[in-house]
Amino acid sequence: MNFEFTEEHLMIQQTAREFAEAEIAKSAVERDINAEFPSEIVKKLGELGFMGMMVPPEYGGAGLDTISYILAMIEISKVDASVGVIMSVNNSLVCFGLEKYGSDYIKEKYLTPLAKGDKLGAFALSEPEAGSDATKQKTTADTEGDFYVLNGIKNWTTNGVSADYHLVMATTDKEKGHHGISTFIVEKGTEGFGHGKKEDKLGIRSSDTCSLTFQNCRIPAQNLVWEEGKGFNFAMQTLNGGRIGIAAQAIGIAEASLEAALKYSKERKAFGQEISKFQAIQFKLADMAMKIDAAKLLTFKAAAVKDANKKYYKEAAMAKLYASKIAVECALEAIQIHGGYGYVREYLVERYLRDAKITEIYEGTSEIQRMIIARALLDEM
Ligand code: CAA
Repeated sequence: MNFEFTEEHLMIQQTAREFAEAEIAKSAVERDINAEFPSEIVKKLGELGFMGMMVPPEYGGAGLDTISYILAMIEISKVDASVGVIMSVNNSLVCFGLEKYGSDYIKEKYLTPLAKGDKLGAFALSEPEAGSDATKQKTTADTEGDFYVLNGIKNWTTNGVSADYHLVMATTDKEKGHHGISTFIVEKGTEGFGHGKKEDKLGIRSSDTCSLTFQNCRIPAQNLVWEEGKGFNFAMQTLNGGRIGIAAQAIGIAEASLEAALKYSKERKAFGQEISKFQAIQFKLADMAMKIDAAKLLTFKAAAVKDANKKYYKEAAMAKLYASKIAVECALEAIQIHGGYGYVREYLVERYLRDAKITEIYEGTSEIQRMIIARALLDEM
């Protein structure tokens, strides 16, 4: 067992940290308040190679491993978790699946600009009546000559407003249940494809989330990803990787919470001394640091298992479940240490709590992660 990062890993971490501090931090508060999408930042992330980190260079990516991706995700999310989720969806939910299962045509036409960051991707699985129970897809895709015709509604789509290319799960054969679901690429601007209003969210407000509508939306047959009937499998595989990315996002928020709490505890005086001198505060700081380390161990383990091309869905579920839980706990403790100041916008910790909460919900709720872990344990018996 080796707990050391390589020189390359440390360089990527440093690059991400410097970029986040120089380019993301200054506008994060305003963008949160105004729910403003960080278009310029996303463009620069693409130039750095952070929008297609694990895609081979022949398809416009940086050709890095999952550990590198996690290191970068933590640094970016520490400064702005909204930017973190935009980056995570493009890398894990869009590029990963297209690289693994896309045809040469798809890799050339769609994956390459996505991995370079010239185009942005979204992933549309959830529907009004198919959230956690994702096998119950109602969106349909019927064949019509060399086209598929899509009808239905998707919701909670991250990057839904801004994305150029959307990966959409739809049923091609109702009789086959989830084995009759397929994945398609739908381009922004396709006739019959629209989106709902940008959701007014509690947190990650500068990322955009919306519903998508398909009304007799005709797309070329070559935009089918992998094969008919493989769409649910595709979604589950991509979500496994996505969950590691969300675990990293949660760790970033938890680290930001701890750093803010440490700083404030040394500045704030009460009863004649810095509050960091009180054991009540020290115990909170110690617990936060321990939880963050444990979340990192789970997340880097999941990333290492994935990089070793072994089954990693249980590890990914554990990483996301734990990291999201401790992100909420650390943000709450940071607010508690700040007292009243933690409850107002002037200090950043209230945003950390708002941003942390979604990590327990999207890409599979904590309840779904527990279900996946328990099933894996029982299957292993
Ligand atoms: N990895 C690989 N395959 C998996 C899997 C995983 N983690 N979880 C389930 N599967 C496979 C099963 O092996 C099974 O395959 P076969 O039928 O071929 O054998 C198939 O999926 C169906 O699984 P189950 O029979 O266990 O079906 P279920 O309905 O009892 O459970 C589920 C399925 C695990 C609950 C699944 O529906 C699920 O993961 N739900 C959560 C969906 C989710 O994460 N949604 C987030 C959407 S994206 C988002 O959040 C928005 C965004 O933009 C960020």
